[in-house]
Amino acid sequence: MLRRLGLSLATLALASTGVVALAPPAAYAAQAGSEAGAGGDTLFPRQGDARYQVWSYDVSLDYTPVTNRLTATTRIVAVAARDLGRFDLDLEGLDVSRVLVDGEQAAFSRDGHELTVRPDGGLDRGRFTVRVDYAGEPQEHIDADGSTEGWVRTADGATALGEPVGTMTWIPSNNTPGDKARYTFRLTVPTGYEATANGVLVSQRDEGLTTTWTWRADDPMATYLAMVSIGQFDVFESQTESVDGRTIPIWSFTDVTGGDAAAARRLLPKVIAFQERLFGPYPFDAAGLVVDDADVGYALETQTRPFYPSVGAADGALVHETAHQWFGDSVTLVDWHDIWLAEGFATYAEWLWDARHGGDTAQEHFDDLYATPASGALWRPAPTEFTDAADLFGSPVYNRGAMTLHALRKEVGGDDFFRIVRLWAQRNEDGSVRTAQLVRLAERVSGRALSPLFRTWLEKAGKPAGY
Ligand code: ARG
Ligand code: ZN
Repeated sequence: MLRRLGLSLATLALASTGVVALAPPAAYAAQAGSEAGAGGDTLFPRQGDARYQVWSYDVSLDYTPVTNRLTATTRIVAVAARDLGRFDLDLEGLDVSRVLVDGEQAAFSRDGHELTVRPDGGLDRGRFTVRVDYAGEPQEHIDADGSTEGWVRTADGATALGEPVGTMTWIPSNNTPGDKARYTFRLTVPTGYEATANGVLVSQRDEGLTTTWTWRADDPMATYLAMVSIGQFDVFESQTESVDGRTIPIWSFTDVTGGDAAAARRLLPKVIAFQERLFGPYPFDAAGLVVDDADVGYALETQTRPFYPSVGAADGALVHETAHQWFGDSVTLVDWHDIWLAEGFATYAEWLWDARHGGDTAQEHFDDLYATPASGALWRPAPTEFTDAADLFGSPVYNRGAMTLHALRKEVGGDDFFRIVRLWAQRNEDGSVRTAQLVRLAERVSGRALSPLFRTWLEKAGKPAGY
């Protein structure tokens, strides 16, 4: 049942039952050198710093829509894998007034988006804290393919979008997908505006001229999936029950834009239920959506609260972004070259939805694409073989990525295929992965040698023969 949000006691009770993870466990440092973490991303080598791992971000920001003025403090709890003389954060634009490391003022310098911090006497291996105070007018970031992300202003506020690198326009962060952390967002906006972010609503405090909305995302999240949206929205709170009996709160913030947001809100629990049957339990403790007039031309699977420039019940975007909650968000690539693990799965999830709702079967989707002439853009570069960041969201990643999964399904049969998909989601829940791990899992489940199939579909430029 949907209703207008007046901050209910039920909401507060629900949010406060979550256990706040205050500190990283002793073993956390080891993650920086784990199999998935080793090496990190190779597409944007200047993003992130592999020598430490963030445990949590606490982002307090004060934003005035009419002036685009941001004043913020981000507090980070992190773990250094070894002793460090200095470390890097990523921050694009904005003025940094102060950096504290373990409570002590630290020297810092800036070069492009690198914010290099040199704590007095260096850092010992293990846990450390960072506080960065900063302010200014946050900006958009233009990607290699010409698309817009980062801090995107709207008619009545702003929406922050971060794939692949735009989160550094508003959070000083270890901005690489292999470093997943917990987040708290404290968003202070003029009273009369609404502010949402990822996760569950902890509180909404009216301070007179301003109101502070606090959101908490306790499930580990890659920086590129962080979001905030500020403006004047219709706010809806509802809930759905997951297959494993959990009550999942749903918060939706919709601005008046194109599409039919009410239809999308009604559809969301049905999409979650459908995908739970295919992929296993919904991986997070909250759901929802944001519809806002950030004019970027794409939707984004921002964790627990996907963003849509407009949405309706008819297009595949809702199904696509919801599927990303399992594939991309919970199970996250370390290296952007493996982005087909997000986009190929989300596209295949659209095919599965269509097949069950009177549309084309997966085979028909596959056959239509396979009819693309060998000279078509679908066939090159192969999904994992691009070298230009402009190809990150290209047709090979989405469509040939989905075709790879369909080819796998044909090879191992439907039962093993869905077993592989469910195990992939379950074993890597809240984790970080590479393509080679999927190949190994598929081989173990099916008892077949599958490297040739994956190599043909993911690595070889040109149209695979014989399908
Ligand atoms: N991951 C988004 C999707 O669901 C697309 C993001 C595109 N990002 C960009 N900067 N162009 O397909
Ligand atoms: Zn996608």
